[in-house]
Amino acid sequence: MKIGIDKIGFYTPHYYVDMEDLAEARGDDPAKYTIGIGQDEMAVAPLTQDAVTLAGNAALNVLTDEDLEKIDLVLFATETGVDHSKSGGVYLHELLGLKREARSIELKQACYSGTAGLQLARGHIALNPDSKVLVLASDIARYGLATPGEVTQGAGAVAIVVSANPKILAIDQVSTTLTKDIMDFWRPIYSEYAFVDGHYSNEQYIEYFQTVWEEYQEKTGLTIADFEAICFHLPYTKMGRKAIEATYPEGLGEDEDRIMKNYEASTRYSRRIGNIYTASLYLGFISLIEHEELAEGAKVGFFSYGSGGVGEFFSGVLQEGYRNYLYASEHNELLNSRTKLSIPEYEEIFEERLPVDGLAVELNKDADPADICLTGVVNHERKYARK
Ligand code: HMG
Repeated sequence: MKIGIDKIGFYTPHYYVDMEDLAEARGDDPAKYTIGIGQDEMAVAPLTQDAVTLAGNAALNVLTDEDLEKIDLVLFATETGVDHSKSGGVYLHELLGLKREARSIELKQACYSGTAGLQLARGHIALNPDSKVLVLASDIARYGLATPGEVTQGAGAVAIVVSANPKILAIDQVSTTLTKDIMDFWRPIYSEYAFVDGHYSNEQYIEYFQTVWEEYQEKTGLTIADFEAICFHLPYTKMGRKAIEATYPEGLGEDEDRIMKNYEASTRYSRRIGNIYTASLYLGFISLIEHEELAEGAKVGFFSYGSGGVGEFFSGVLQEGYRNYLYASEHNELLNSRTKLSIPEYEEIFEERLPVDGLAVELNKDADPADICLTGVVNHERKYARK
């Protein structure tokens, strides 16, 4: 039985910063940001958007009544969740109209947990072929103003419906994984910002890729020539390219043009959104299939990396007619209708905080065009609404 991605869509908030403006404000050469890092724009979340609302808005765009009837498991992947106990998916249960019997849990392992969700969903569908699983990957990446990581921030979510006989991508059985206890990027529970050893994290990302890719090739007998494209976790859009170049210093020979053209297509949305941690790999896949007309039956590889760290290489096959189930025009409309912030406006929004002392606050949901918003906090309870 084929199992995989039946639907996939993303959401990102309505504010962004132009990276050339940010470079100028930080006294850096804009080319460092746009070429050296590979980011043109960076999504900024207002207080009315958090990991829950971003995921909810991504899900609203893809779910139909039939999906809502069949979904019996919600896997919410995030590393910027809003509660240490309650799962982000539970907040969304009624807002999305999910059925009462559907289970809901939250998954964590840095940027890897979206892939954990996808793989766990496959197992669930294998046991319950008539059901569907909703995998939500949602994050707001924050390193702090004027830090080296600032240029790699972002905000957004991807919603994936996993089912039997999927319309978009059937996921292959074989995958290779690597778990090692390393400290390249982490966020202690008392800290608002991640701690990161940036250059070490780049090195580890590449080492993880080389290990799981080599093991995948040994296990399957496949090589780069068997792949139409490879999608990478994209903390910034140069990162996947760095991994390819480090692994193939002589270039990819006759596979070079195809792999690099498709790599570039996979980075287009991330260039305008930034790092969305758990969802970045899947934003890359959406970008690839919405910007390039890949053949039905083509094989796509996926490298997932979550600091700390877990890595995985897996693959899937594009299904017949998959192009009929994409949301390219909605996604472009979402990106093109955003409001550009000046750097002082971005810094002001970045410094805004919700009360943590039990005081009540009411937020202006009408200032946010999203359907699902955080409307306030009362007695430490978050209040959400769907317009
Ligand atoms: P940095 O030290 O400010 O930048 O931080 P740099 O000096 O390394 O320069 C970056 C690149 O720009 C270099 O290219 C420069 O040569 C180039 P590279 O050598 O890497 O190919 N450059 C220029 N290019 C053109 N014109 C110029 C120019 N100047 C310099 N004028 C760093 C960069 C990524 C380390 C920092 O932003 C950071 O710490 N980011 C956060 C960590 C991160 O994203 N790590 C990625 C791997 S870990 C990962 O993916 C997991 C993660 O998503 C978290 C999770 O799993 O949850 C982060």
